[in-house]
Amino acid sequence: MRKQIIMLPGDGVGQEIMEGAKAVLNAVAGEYHHEFVFHEHAIGGDAIDRYGTPLPEETVKACNSADAVLLGAVGGPKWDDVEPRKRPERGLLGIRKSLGLFANLRPVTGFSSLVHSSPLKTEIVDGCDILIVRELTGGLYFGTPSERRDEGNSVVDTLQYTRAEIERIVEKGFEAARMRSGHLTSVDKANVLESSRMWREVVNEKAKDYPEVTVEHLLVDAAAMKLITNPRQFDVIVTENLFGDILSDEASVLTGSLGMLPSASLRTDGVGLYEPVHGSAPDIAGQDIANPLGMILSAAMMLRHSFGMEEEAAEIERAVNETLEGGFHTVDLDLKKGKIVGTQDMAEKVIENFSTKSISNAICSSYM
Ligand code: IPM
Ligand code: MG
Repeated sequence: MRKQIIMLPGDGVGQEIMEGAKAVLNAVAGEYHHEFVFHEHAIGGDAIDRYGTPLPEETVKACNSADAVLLGAVGGPKWDDVEPRKRPERGLLGIRKSLGLFANLRPVTGFSSLVHSSPLKTEIVDGCDILIVRELTGGLYFGTPSERRDEGNSVVDTLQYTRAEIERIVEKGFEAARMRSGHLTSVDKANVLESSRMWREVVNEKAKDYPEVTVEHLLVDAAAMKLITNPRQFDVIVTENLFGDILSDEASVLTGSLGMLPSASLRTDGVGLYEPVHGSAPDIAGQDIANPLGMILSAAMMLRHSFGMEEEAAEIERAVNETLEGGFHTVDLDLKKGKIVGTQDMAEKVIENFSTKSISNAICSSYM
């Protein structure tokens, strides 16, 4: 298959992790006879520096005509003082909104070799496997008005959803739960927020269409607590934009490092944007020490969700697992044993663990 992929490396460690993902994708293309054509465009602080805006029109145009988009990370202290509507994060929010990517899938899978890397007890995190389905184009992030008033002495943000916006993301949650263990946890703050009461109403309505899925409602504060005290009680979590943002960072401690988490932002036609959950980490940028696995696993999600390449996606995930099992890890993963490698070497190790390579190596060695 021939696919056009837009790469938006962005800021901080974005460029380095993107190179790692590109190397892995090129290796996949070679092994499975695909052709991936990459085009790089600007976003975030990098775009502010080069074009004076965090989301150039040309970037949006390119993404609109691509098969899928890979994004590194945006933001950094360099742009802390730019006016709010021109911040690097605006680029990210803008591209999600203009592509209509309302469904953000954030799988939180514990790799067994990393359980000791989590600050939580092994018996708590071992075997946890959660999918967070986060609404991505509504809620407090996009509601208007959002402004200072009374000469800066009061402020307003708006949490706004239409019923249709809630319905389509809740459906995604149910669909995911049906394909997994049949258990859906809907997270809200229905004891306080009207938007959450409507959310809960929609979940209960939709539940009638999915009799095979059991639904549990959880208030967001309780969910935050249970996520780290009893994570194995969760399978699919569906929630609104801000709650999903917070809970997904919290859930990353289950995997040992925020650097491990991939994400897919989708709409209904399969077009998607794929990015690691972590940020631009400006403090470690340019040192070849960032963990590329969140980005590489995001590329695997792209193969699965946008290109229907399940086998290739699973091959990347398997090779990542094997690399970790082999003891190779970046500095953020506190493994206490094994070998610390840099960003590009980590990507190379993943490529070395592709099975067709190991098969050909095995053949070679049996002749030696
Ligand atoms: C994320 C990030 C973004 C968000 C920021 C960078 C705007 O935290 O993808 O989780 O809040 O959505
Ligand atoms: Mg976040």
